[in-house]
Amino acid sequence: MYEHDVIVVGAGGAGLRAAIAAQEEGADVAIVTKLHPVRSHTGAAEGGINAALREGDSWEDHAYDTMKGSDYLGDAPAVETLCKESPKETMQLEHWGMAFSRDEDGRVSQRPFGGLSFPRTTYAGAETGHQLLHTMYEQLVKRGIEVYDEWYATRLAVSDEERPEDRTCHGVVAYDIQSGEIAGFRARKGVVLATGGPGQVYDHTTNAVSNTGDGVAMAYRAGAPMEDMEFIQFHPTTLPSTGVLISEGVRGEGGILYNAEGERFMYEHGYANNAGELASRDVVSRAELTEVNEGRGIEDEYVHLDMRHLGEERIVDRLENILHLAEDFEGVDGIEEPMPVKPGQHYAMGGVETDENGETCITGLYAAGECACASVHGANRLGGNALPELIVFGKRAGQHAAGRDLGTAKIETGKRGEFEVGEVETPVEPGEISGGEPGDVAADGGKAADGGATAELTPEECVERAVTDERTRVDALMSRDGTNHANIRAKVQKSMTRFVNVFREEEGLKQALRDIREAREAYQDVAVSDPSRTFNTDLIQTIETRNLLDIAEAITLGALVRDEFRGAHWRAEHQERKDESWLKHTMLSWNDGTPEVWFRPVVLEGEDKRYEPKVRSY
Ligand code: FUM
Repeated sequence: MYEHDVIVVGAGGAGLRAAIAAQEEGADVAIVTKLHPVRSHTGAAEGGINAALREGDSWEDHAYDTMKGSDYLGDAPAVETLCKESPKETMQLEHWGMAFSRDEDGRVSQRPFGGLSFPRTTYAGAETGHQLLHTMYEQLVKRGIEVYDEWYATRLAVSDEERPEDRTCHGVVAYDIQSGEIAGFRARKGVVLATGGPGQVYDHTTNAVSNTGDGVAMAYRAGAPMEDMEFIQFHPTTLPSTGVLISEGVRGEGGILYNAEGERFMYEHGYANNAGELASRDVVSRAELTEVNEGRGIEDEYVHLDMRHLGEERIVDRLENILHLAEDFEGVDGIEEPMPVKPGQHYAMGGVETDENGETCITGLYAAGECACASVHGANRLGGNALPELIVFGKRAGQHAAGRDLGTAKIETGKRGEFEVGEVETPVEPGEISGGEPGDVAADGGKAADGGATAELTPEECVERAVTDERTRVDALMSRDGTNHANIRAKVQKSMTRFVNVFREEEGLKQALRDIREAREAYQDVAVSDPSRTFNTDLIQTIETRNLLDIAEAITLGALVRDEFRGAHWRAEHQERKDESWLKHTMLSWNDGTPEVWFRPVVLEGEDKRYEPKVRSY
């Protein structure tokens, strides 16, 4: 068994920032990661980091824009923390040597981004995430922080008291992709999940194939609730053939969207008369799809993003990466031609429920970055708010896990404080097909099959037990004949892309739920056909597929339950935002494989003011 004070799972922006912060607090910290750190998906982030750095801007304005962008479903204490701390954390990156783009006078450049009232997005060309990741990786190497790379964390070691709020996380179990060894990692102080998003739930996504929502699913099965999973962001400008991202930075620099008739539809069809192409992402994605659905799309599928008028010099200076992406993946020269774009899955606003210190309701378990829901994005994230989330909440989670007192959180977690029990009407009775799997002698939280009182186990025994359970599960998957994971995954991705997309209808959501439940049934018979112990991608993808099933179900259940239109969640049958009944978060608890829905009120009270919901227009 390996042992450290703090174990960080994942080595993207949030994981690296958490590890650095924990080490600065004096903790012995290690990272356990499925990928080498610089292959993390943060490296694909293009656009930038929102930070109120300049005269005329303020963290208060950033907070206002973020609350409005969230369609008033962000929790004010988390939003205010993000906006207050982003400038310092952005400058910290600069002091560590991050190669930000600069103005003539040497200041870090800032550009406009969607939904912002001030041009406050700092950037490094159109490869901000790449620069950020490498800057922090240098810090990791400099500090000698231990990295177990290509170790895939598959299970949390959590004590099994009845109520998740009484449980403690003692570590994780991980699978060494190179050797096939399954080992335990005991965390003396805390585990920080920083495993990124679940984009692979969809088949048209900007997300890497590694983004399978592992941390969210692990934490869910260990008892930490998932929050606001129905809110999925569809980025308006992805390349039609691959889903590769074309940064909002193109529109920030002045890029224009046109339909097949050459109309600048954001204005000409009245979707956003003030902000136009720089309205918030949910607004622009709906506008594009409306154009296509009403017959004004190109090849019935996409619209054009034109940056030719910016001129070659400016394009090369600020958006060079975009030229390569358009050329390599679509064969289009962005200096000479408009680029084809359409909405694609990009980001999950929901995730593991945490407070503003990154802590979940399970003692010793933290989450930060896209896998977490603090919640700063509510029903819709603003472009440029994901990278500050990584550095602000990654740092806080790392510090807190290492033992630093960050003060009492204002956001409650778990079933504490005010909450409301929910009811779900689904086409398949919840529980009819449970989330368990063959060989799964215990839930991922380590809850004993007999429900025995193993809370009395020592932390080491708790980790050992989770290792044994995981070995049993993997042996079962590898020692039998059955269905291949790929068919199951493809079926779910197809159904989610068709029915749980930008536009959602009740019948479609119910069909998606049926498809997911069928896929769950098929998963009961899943088997790994590759018998090797090393670099067994068949096994890894089989384990990932189970995570995708849990997440797809959570997204769809949430979408069905929330009978209103808020932010990125559009419902055909419910065309208004219903503040009287829906200023609340959708919570989902694992409940031994029979998902339980409940609700927690949104926190609109900031430090000095309340963010009153207003009509949201751009
Ligand atoms: O469009 C982009 O460059 C993406 C930025 C973001 O998701 O924040």
